[in-house]
Amino acid sequence: MVEDLRLDSLEGVGPVTTRKLSDAGVHNVMDLIVRGPVEIAEITGMEKDTAEKIVNKARQHLVEGGLIAKDFVSASEIYKYRQSIGKITTGTNCLDTLFDGGIETQALTEVYGEFGCGKTQFAHTMSVMVQKTKEEGGLEGSVLYIDTENTFRPERIVAIAQAHDMDPEKVLDNIIVARAYNSAHQVLILEEAGPVIEENNVKLIVADSAVGLFRAEYLGRGTLSVRQQKLNHFVHLLSRIAETYNCAAIATNQVMASPDVFFGDPTRPIGGNVVAHTSTYRIYFKKSGKKRIARMVDSPHHPEEEVIFALGEAGIVDPEEVEKKKRKTTKKATTKKAKDTEVEATVETPEVEATVETPEVEATVEIESDDLDPVEE
Ligand SMILES: Nc1ncnc2c1ncn2[C@@H]1O[C@H](COP(=O)(O)OP(=O)(O)O)[C@@H](O)[C@H]1O
Ligand SMILES: [Mg+2]
Repeated sequence: MVEDLRLDSLEGVGPVTTRKLSDAGVHNVMDLIVRGPVEIAEITGMEKDTAEKIVNKARQHLVEGGLIAKDFVSASEIYKYRQSIGKITTGTNCLDTLFDGGIETQALTEVYGEFGCGKTQFAHTMSVMVQKTKEEGGLEGSVLYIDTENTFRPERIVAIAQAHDMDPEKVLDNIIVARAYNSAHQVLILEEAGPVIEENNVKLIVADSAVGLFRAEYLGRGTLSVRQQKLNHFVHLLSRIAETYNCAAIATNQVMASPDVFFGDPTRPIGGNVVAHTSTYRIYFKKSGKKRIARMVDSPHHPEEEVIFALGEAGIVDPEEVEKKKRKTTKKATTKKAKDTEVEATVETPEVEATVETPEVEATVEIESDDLDPVEE
């Protein structure tokens, strides 16, 4: 642990308080900020005043160390600070355009959409991209992947890494997977994540799905407020961790049919407003035939726009890539000089190939965002 992040580096925090805090899962100065005074008092049993004093000291300590911004700053300082925020390329032109370069650190990016729209593929792709060098658009960092649906697949990571000329073994080594078995466990993983993030230079935290376990455990109208409260806690924690540790965070969210919507797309993200108000960026993924549409729904500074992407062996890909690959392999196949591997690659992605022939996808983009009809699959 970095020397001055130790709890006992704070004035007035002795071995007893340090013990009390670490027993409650608060391991360093960053964790104090992430949890905040109310929670610190709750989990340690200390007086609220004391907790407030400690958290304030922690904040001061981090401001002095240049690790977090001070309370009063000029807009130009914020502007300068924002320029130093890390961005992770998505590895595609289309989504990099949508994200204006890539997904940001110190922010929570929520991706929501129906089953099979590519949320998990996106999470896998970003887990590889964050490991790229800074010159290549990555952050040379590792990943904490919270898998709540048992859909993390190392095989996909290997394929994506290979497609980007990266060493698959190294890429796998830099992804720490935490399988969450229930919503309380999911929260606990995040509460305990501080030291893991720090020691492993984690630059991306994935929660796939952020909402699924909460949804499964809290059924029925009567439990809705408890569910939202717990989910709220998780999502806030995630976003505070992203800010404090300068990481990017991705939370995926399912959609459900909302019978009260008569016009437009009758699907709404399950987390509802709780997730929406916390995420800094919200992206809606939508199936459109074999292709996918990504729409920036809510962002403090991006225009609301849409792009088309595709899913392939390389994870999230540009639709042109699929087209190019198809043309290349068709040519090679006819001259019968194709290498086995390349032919195989296309054989494995018959779905994606088919998309090239789907002109109606282009038409969807012209439609006003509110009028997007669900595509029949
Ligand atoms: N190896 C692969 N090659 C091409 N496409 C794939 C591959 N693996 C998964 N996909 C695509 O990803 C889709 C599933 O996306 P996924 O990210 O799991 O959806 P969800 O939004 O439910 O998490 C599949 O329907 C398929 O189109
Ligand atoms: Mg998924």
